[in-house]
Amino acid sequence: MNEGGATKKTMGVDPYERNWMYISIGVIVAFFVLISIAGLALGIQVPTEERRVDPRTFADSAPWGEPAQEVGDGEYEVYVVARTFYFEPASIEIPVDSTVTIYVSSPDVQHGFRIQDTNVNMQIVPGEVSKLKYTFDRPGEYPYICTEYCGLAHAAMFGTVKVVEEGADAEEGEEGEDE
Ligand code: CUA
Repeated sequence: MNEGGATKKTMGVDPYERNWMYISIGVIVAFFVLISIAGLALGIQVPTEERRVDPRTFADSAPWGEPAQEVGDGEYEVYVVARTFYFEPASIEIPVDSTVTIYVSSPDVQHGFRIQDTNVNMQIVPGEVSKLKYTFDRPGEYPYICTEYCGLAHAAMFGTVKVVEEGADAEEGEEGEDE
């Protein structure tokens, strides 16, 4: 019935459906572009699980818990142990404009690691190594705190990144109670 004009419709897609398909594809393309910009141009990273370690033993071996080490020109690395209820090291000292790769793991329960005034914020799972990189381009003190409730003294779990001006840079070592 009504041959001719109306059969056209059955051959194509309903205009409403077609428009929504275009919108869906547009949203996917927009997300892809925005994620690419965030990741490649703005350097926004998602914390990645770097590798696994044995939660019973990893904290006993270097470089875990030691002061930040210079690994290149303006490049530092630090391996933080997050445990009930403190961070090792409790203080990370680096010169201004350094890029620090921060590795964190826990030997006991789940913790969090967030550095205030930065976008460094990681979940710390026992036996998994979380990793983020950050460039500190302003001198000052940046407290880091545990963001995951981990027990009675959770609120006492914190440390400080000390970003010092070049020249005022303290010598390596002499970091208190090294054995
Ligand atoms: Cu560790 Cu809260």
